[in-house]
Amino acid sequence: MTQDELKAKVGLAALEYLVPNEWVGVGTGSTVNKFIDALAASTTPIKGAVSSSQASTQRMLALGIKVVDLQQVERLAVYIDGADEIDGHGFMVKGGGAALTREKIVAAQADQFVCIADASKKVSVLGRFPLPVEVIPMAAPEIMRRFVAMGGSAMLRMKDGHALVTDNGQHLLDIQGLHIHDPLAFENQVSQWPGVVTVGVFAHQRAHVCLLGTEAGVETIRY
Ligand code: A5P
Repeated sequence: MTQDELKAKVGLAALEYLVPNEWVGVGTGSTVNKFIDALAASTTPIKGAVSSSQASTQRMLALGIKVVDLQQVERLAVYIDGADEIDGHGFMVKGGGAALTREKIVAAQADQFVCIADASKKVSVLGRFPLPVEVIPMAAPEIMRRFVAMGGSAMLRMKDGHALVTDNGQHLLDIQGLHIHDPLAFENQVSQWPGVVTVGVFAHQRAHVCLLGTEAGVETIRY
């Protein structure tokens, strides 16, 4: 099976976690796009969706899915999103698609986080995938120096020859070379650095369930 087919399988499997007549939180990325396609064809009645990015909003609206702002919703029954990495505790690295801040905000208002991922995303220790960190631009050099002091290397994410600008008007760093053995402590520490908007470690907003696409089918892992 191709990676794309595995993503489609977990996107479809996530429909089982919809709570009828409730709101669903929708993440961002190529795996979530498969979920959005499945959601558009689903017969489960939902109130609508809350989106974590302009890209997901546009895709859902184009497919006729109702999307409302998070401010209009107090709690979400479930949040469905992909990950760049997920470990054995449901801790994740996210933000490869640059949407980490809104993803963390929406996830924090959901009763359950269902992660959909192909098997390549499973790791024993977070840090293989470059860690995204959204930052206020003026703070970027100092934040980069702090990651270097930790043993990492930091790059400003670029797009079309310029610093990438997130949906929130900020910049993104990608950090390589870290081994994140204590994701909760790491998230606490980096989140306190001045100018850090969001660190892409999702430990406080970890997954409760992972639907992992493998050659043998969709494996359900609960944490
Ligand atoms: C988006 O910012 C990310 O957090 C995505 O959830 C993550 O990058 C997974 O994306 P893919 O499903 O495209 O691999």
